[in-house]
Amino acid sequence: MYGLVRPLLFRLDPERAHHLVLGALRCAGGFGPSRAALRSLYGVSDPRLGTTAFGVGFENPVGLAAGFDKDGVAVRGLDALGLGHIEIGTLTLRPQEGNPKPRIRRFPREQALVNSMGFPNAGLGAFQAASWPPAGSLRTRIGINLGKNKDTPLERAAEESCALLRAVHARADYVALNVSSPNTPGLRELQGRAALEPLLREVARVRDDLATRVPVLVKIAPDLSERELDEILAAVESARIDGIIATNTTLDRTGLPELARGLPGGTSGAPLRARSTAVIRFLAQRTQGRLPIIGVGGIRGAEDALEKIRAGAHLVQVYTGMVYAGPGLVRTILRGLLEVCEREGLRNVAELRGG
Ligand SMILES: Cc1cc2nc3c(=O)[nH]c(=O)nc-3n(C[C@H](O)[C@H](O)[C@H](O)COP(=O)(O)O)c2cc1C
Repeated sequence: MYGLVRPLLFRLDPERAHHLVLGALRCAGGFGPSRAALRSLYGVSDPRLGTTAFGVGFENPVGLAAGFDKDGVAVRGLDALGLGHIEIGTLTLRPQEGNPKPRIRRFPREQALVNSMGFPNAGLGAFQAASWPPAGSLRTRIGINLGKNKDTPLERAAEESCALLRAVHARADYVALNVSSPNTPGLRELQGRAALEPLLREVARVRDDLATRVPVLVKIAPDLSERELDEILAAVESARIDGIIATNTTLDRTGLPELARGLPGGTSGAPLRARSTAVIRFLAQRTQGRLPIIGVGGIRGAEDALEKIRAGAHLVQVYTGMVYAGPGLVRTILRGLLEVCEREGLRNVAELRGG
């Protein structure tokens, strides 16, 4: 079905197409029969897909990456697509418009996007968590991805993250700290150990004081050296952060046409795949598979997901792959993983994990 819809969507500006799809999912999520129809079209139920990461149980290991539903408006519709988790956000304390449009560019031949969104979102005051159904009635798990406002100085990033964590933790199965978007000036500097360790410690202190414990993960860039990754691991371990999401978009334009070099922002999709997997493998090997990792970047099918899981990812996420392949991508990946389990005589997808 997406094969019919896609050419129409691709005639529109990418951000308009995105809002149409999000609106459709929001509508479909509002009615029991349309939710049931989506679930029967796209869902895959199999106990072998169930997995646990950072103490949270997931129905399956495939989730939606941050940036798709920034304000949490389409949670019920996305739940019906059979996703194991949905990462809402990036949410900032105050509303902001983001960078000038156009700010998403498609590269269909390369199966890539370049975006310079800059966290457009309605801010905490308008965050839609209150409209979500009670946690028990969703099958998917919810991550909430937090970032700092563009005009907030880096020294105050921790304060904002802590305020956001306090405000949203009750609705989150995990929280992600985004220190890796290339579209907020200076944000990636928070990945350096001198800035990262105090930030993570403050956030972990607030996490530990909350009435209900929520795992906190940090989302990192793919454009980091092994030394920088080691520093991140040191900060994560010393602050007792629960896991890492690897990776965000890349500044690299390798594999894209010349015109992409002049665009601001980060590349996602196929050209990011190998680099993101290399980061996951490095992190998993350094931590002997003990640190939970969510693997994201360029997953277009079961093989790509398997590559990340074998490299050490506990869960995986998709974004750009869904833009090109449609919502059926989740089912394709899950069925593919089940086939591999069958072939290898495994009882659970978690047994596929390497690292
Ligand atoms: C249009 C767009 C918007 C995004 N917005 C966010 C965001 O707000 N926060 C975030 O952490 N990552 C954001 N990302 C990055 C994705 O979550 C993901 O890390 C990245 O796209 C790599 O995965 P993919 O190759 O499957 O798309 C965005 C990506 C795209 C394409």
